[in-house]
Amino acid sequence: MHEASHQLRCIGCGAVILPGAVEKNFRCVDCGELLEVEYPSWSANQSATGTPLPGPRRMPNPGALRWLWQERLQSRLAIDRSGVWRFRELLPIVEHPEKAVTLREGNTPLYLLLKSAKELGLDQLYAKHQGMNPTGSFKDTGMTSALSQAHELDFDWVACASTGNTSASMAAYASRAGMNSLVLLPEGKISWSKLSQALDYGAVACQLNTDFDGCVRVLTEVVQRAPVYLLNSVNPYRLEGQKTAAFEIAEEFDWQVPDHLIVPGGNLANSSALGKGFLEMMHLGLTSKVPRISVVQAEGANPLYLYLLHQDGRDIQPMQADTRATAIRIGNPASWRKAARVIQETGGYCEQVSEAEIALAKADIGQEGIGCEPASAVTLAGLKKLMRQGKIRRDESVVLLLTGHTLKDSEYVIDFHQGTLLSREESAGHQREISEKRRATLSLEASSDAVLRVLEAAIQA
Ligand code: F0G
Repeated sequence: MHEASHQLRCIGCGAVILPGAVEKNFRCVDCGELLEVEYPSWSANQSATGTPLPGPRRMPNPGALRWLWQERLQSRLAIDRSGVWRFRELLPIVEHPEKAVTLREGNTPLYLLLKSAKELGLDQLYAKHQGMNPTGSFKDTGMTSALSQAHELDFDWVACASTGNTSASMAAYASRAGMNSLVLLPEGKISWSKLSQALDYGAVACQLNTDFDGCVRVLTEVVQRAPVYLLNSVNPYRLEGQKTAAFEIAEEFDWQVPDHLIVPGGNLANSSALGKGFLEMMHLGLTSKVPRISVVQAEGANPLYLYLLHQDGRDIQPMQADTRATAIRIGNPASWRKAARVIQETGGYCEQVSEAEIALAKADIGQEGIGCEPASAVTLAGLKKLMRQGKIRRDESVVLLLTGHTLKDSEYVIDFHQGTLLSREESAGHQREISEKRRATLSLEASSDAVLRVLEAAIQA
């Protein structure tokens, strides 16, 4: 169907697959690796052997695109108001973009993080808050693109395995499109808010007695046996939507790019999506460089960190993951090769951070009046570490990608402030900082005297 607009390429053996011929699991039939969307018409006209071919180049004109994308901000059309479809020239993956399933995702804010910048001595520190998307996470930007594909292909059912956010997002977009959704979740390992969203938006929500990696295993079998469309991030059309956050960042920087972008790493698709976005912009002449892209993982769910540390020629080693940042509690990340490639191509780093470092960074972001979910806070914790190691200089501009809204996991916040989040071992060495950041919830008698006593004490403090 869309042969003219795009094709898929295997990241392992390089095989080219036409959109109509893709397997249900979105993997290469020859080598089993993941696929990536590419747009042959963007390349300078070349034969397969690299010989220049006659005829005009069909790459979009950068100046015209920048103008058009800006103009669309004034439009009343739903697809123009979407921060994903506003950039539709760079993701021509559906035949009828005007029918895209959209909830006005994208166009998320880029905030200055003044307090943290001051503390770290950084000149420019920003947070790109993808938690400000309609269902509260960056997943919406990829869901609008991939689910619109599924809708165009006339699927009734979509499905995903999830640590929570993908399921919330998929359920919402499926309902908007009049489709049905099936979600597989690790029982007891996702936040209530995310589960409640999936239920509210009408998904068939199955909690399985396993972890995220186990849910992925089961779902892979389900999609082979039932007519459902797979919406996990192995689906390369998800990444096409997610890459638009890179376009928004470049636009905010007036088509310059920041020196450094720091992204949380779970299943490792988002870091690759952002890398793809930045690399494509440079290739098309929209920008002249790419930021370093660094990925931060939780210590208890750090397979990419260990893989890059050892570099012993072996593939990534799956692990039993454990972290309170449940969104990234993933031990066998599907997109690790894509993420490792982006880190290498952009000169970025991979870091790991402890549970206490995550909790403290989350409290810092909260105190900026911004807030985020624990998995997003790994970015600030990672930045602190990278600066201590001298890998990021004070005069560099840094953007942290905040992936989820603070209300996604309010139990975590309450536990932190009540002092029940971390064990003694986990908080060792951080007690002073933790007690400075904790806020007590006060229960008072209902009198102005009692409240004023508290206020006075707070003013004195
Ligand atoms: N941050 C949040 C808030 C997430 O929900 C996820 C992934 C990530 C970061 C990591 O992104 O997987 O692309 O490296 N959540 C998935 C889910 C796995 O099911 O909601 P990644």
